[in-house]
Amino acid sequence: MTEHNFEGRDIVSINDFSREELEHVLKTAKSMEALTRKEGHTFLEGYVMAALFFEPSTRTRMSFESSMNKLGGKVINVTDAKVSSAVKGETLYDTIKMVESYSDVIVMRHNKDGAARFAAEATGKPVINAGDGKNQHPTQTMLDMYSIQKTQGKLDGLTIAMVGDLKYGRTVHSLATAMSHYNTKFRFVSPSFLQMPDYSIKELEEKGLDYSLHKDMNEVIKDVDVLYMTRVQKERFSDASEYEKAKDMYILTGNMLEGAKGNMKVMHPLPRVNEIQPSVDQTAYHYYFDQAANGVPIRQALLALTLGVMR
Ligand code: CP
Repeated sequence: MTEHNFEGRDIVSINDFSREELEHVLKTAKSMEALTRKEGHTFLEGYVMAALFFEPSTRTRMSFESSMNKLGGKVINVTDAKVSSAVKGETLYDTIKMVESYSDVIVMRHNKDGAARFAAEATGKPVINAGDGKNQHPTQTMLDMYSIQKTQGKLDGLTIAMVGDLKYGRTVHSLATAMSHYNTKFRFVSPSFLQMPDYSIKELEEKGLDYSLHKDMNEVIKDVDVLYMTRVQKERFSDASEYEKAKDMYILTGNMLEGAKGNMKVMHPLPRVNEIQPSVDQTAYHYYFDQAANGVPIRQALLALTLGVMR
């Protein structure tokens, strides 16, 4: 059996993890969920997590904080870049050098692609990427995988549609890479100007995986096991007219799901705007709120593993 040691390790990009390592995180999350449901635990007593959120967040920040609190640790945070010394011109390097002396693990969200890698290289403390620009959101991907495994009973051999803003959507970039370990069939639904980046497509081609590009999500709904919806992210567009063109293109309603497979689940990293209508919440296909809840065991596992209190 392979020994995994995540102590001191950064969680920057999903590409840094093998299939076996990803499965080790999922397995740890499962045992964490069972343990903390039963009795609560204090694995992280005496540890401090710094949460540096230079971009807005509800789920990622709060589920990390909840994870730390539930396991007996403490949290210090910057939840608004405007109240940190970054507004006075402090560099990210200097901020990280300060924060490393106040904490044992650093969780950071930043608007710039590559900021998490930069922070990880600046400190010996583990850095967990809570989303860097349009690049990566690895902990979201791990909770997405956990959600897929829970609802489908497996990860191998599934058909997954990703719908919406596939160009700027960091969650779909990370998820496509992770699921490429599992003989997944990918159905990418977007307008041509919001397609998956070339590097993602190339990765799937190199692995010989089945993928197809679509403009209409009705073409794929009946065939998929997971319908992964995404928000068209206004904040990532430099051209406002492109956003206006895209924002109402993909709106899922409950009646569009008629004829979908019984096991099919609609997922979304959230927040949603209008792309999933409330009528979907009334169907057995919706899973996005449970998916967000799965962020707690996954982030508990990542904190316990990187801090070396679990192996
Ligand atoms: N899914 C996700 O990253 O949500 P938040 O932006 O609320 O953290």
